[in-house]
Amino acid sequence: MPASRRGSGSFTLTTGQTIAIHTRTQDEEDLPHATKKTMADHLRKYESLFTLTPQRMRMIVEAFTETLELGLNKPNQIVPMIPTYVFGWPTGQEKGDFLALDLGGTNLRVCLVTLQGEGKFEISQTKYRLTEEQKQDDGQKLFDFCAECLHTFVETNTGEGAGQLKPGQSLPLGFTFSYPCSQERIDHGELIRWTKGFGAGNTEGRDVAEMFKKSLEKYQLPIKLTALINDTTGTLIASHYVNPKTKIAVIFGTGCNAAYMENVKNITKIEHLGIDPGAEMAINCEWGAFDSFEHEHLPRTKYDTVVDDTSNKPGEQAFEKLISGRYLGEILRLVLCELIDEGVLFLGQNTYKLEKPYCFDTAFLSLMESDPTDELLMVIGIFTHFFALETTLAERQFFRALAKLIGRRAARLSACGIAAIVSKMNYLDEGCSVGADGSLYNKYPGFADRVHEGLQDIFGDKGRNIVTYHAEDGSGVGSAIIAAMTKHRKDAGLYLNV
Ligand code: BGC
Repeated sequence: MPASRRGSGSFTLTTGQTIAIHTRTQDEEDLPHATKKTMADHLRKYESLFTLTPQRMRMIVEAFTETLELGLNKPNQIVPMIPTYVFGWPTGQEKGDFLALDLGGTNLRVCLVTLQGEGKFEISQTKYRLTEEQKQDDGQKLFDFCAECLHTFVETNTGEGAGQLKPGQSLPLGFTFSYPCSQERIDHGELIRWTKGFGAGNTEGRDVAEMFKKSLEKYQLPIKLTALINDTTGTLIASHYVNPKTKIAVIFGTGCNAAYMENVKNITKIEHLGIDPGAEMAINCEWGAFDSFEHEHLPRTKYDTVVDDTSNKPGEQAFEKLISGRYLGEILRLVLCELIDEGVLFLGQNTYKLEKPYCFDTAFLSLMESDPTDELLMVIGIFTHFFALETTLAERQFFRALAKLIGRRAARLSACGIAAIVSKMNYLDEGCSVGADGSLYNKYPGFADRVHEGLQDIFGDKGRNIVTYHAEDGSGVGSAIIAAMTKHRKDAGLYLNV
């Protein structure tokens, strides 16, 4: 039994903020709260909405597998199955200094990675916060900001003082740009669409590598863009560098996606390029787009529809919107708002703070689920501190149960995606390791266990052969390894043949 803590206390959020909490003694009596029975009745309703049966999961996997095949066979499909021009696995012997720039969902990160061979590396890095304005402003300005951060980083980390760069020498750079880009070669990428709430202008449909090179020129940086990569591809390569059993990489963070290694002969849409059919190439699936627009296969609730309709990209990233960290808090908030409108929750209290879209962080779901106290002190803290709302124990238990339903559905849908790649590649019998990264995977309690449970629901006992583990840093180390692999191919004169 978890220890029960009563009275006053405090807890610290992942943001470092400390919040004071207190338990109420007669909370049922002050305000017209919902009864335990009302909350239990509502919970049953949400259980049936958010629960995925094994049978339903298998149907999703079947449709998903077909979609993956389609993306490999035909260009411009909803799930684009992007050829990355990353050929085969690293040897583990890649060596040298490489810069890595990581433009993900929340931060911009610059890394200097020293690959030492034998699967070993050293990394130094700096993070820069991106503002909401930068995400929506002009795209060239965003890349200028990237170049400016690189400039500062290079000055401090690789200047002559630091003894790493000689005058006239340039450093190869792997740019991890974690948005769907169709590629014709490894240092090229046309942005198909922004995801994760980004909307910077004049960027969709353009070659972001070219735009970024322009910004590098502005700052006259001693840097050469060697490879443009997706975070999943980086994760695949970095994880294989240290764990050669890895065959698939997944990201469950602000966005969600997967990459795996495919036989070139199966990527029929690029047959005309004449690449050796016996070669292997990493595929960036961009599976977050599964079921976009048509909404035929995924179990969307009315809350999911609202999330979609009110997003900056309605209809798009249908799979991602049910799974990723950007949206889970909002789904829960919409359920709460419905219960407020129905007069079930928070009668007599001012709920305006909770009515603001996206105010309910997905980190709150993690915190609620991991609250170890009988009184659910963490839940009290969240509701009083952030939303100025008083709650009863029955309500708090309901909120926690709701978080569990939404978090569990996300994990089980994630399992469906992994299962689709496993089925397509026939990995079930021999088994495989899946390198996984992202805030949801790393921080949401029980997420990995629920993915594994989901895989067993889909495949039965054999599902145990598929094991996810916390991946290596794909956007830093992976990006550097890919830059090294690319440099090696170029030096060997293989680059011109793509
Ligand atoms: C992007 C992918 C990325 C994923 C995880 C998605 O929104 O489309 O390119 O890999 O997020 O960061």
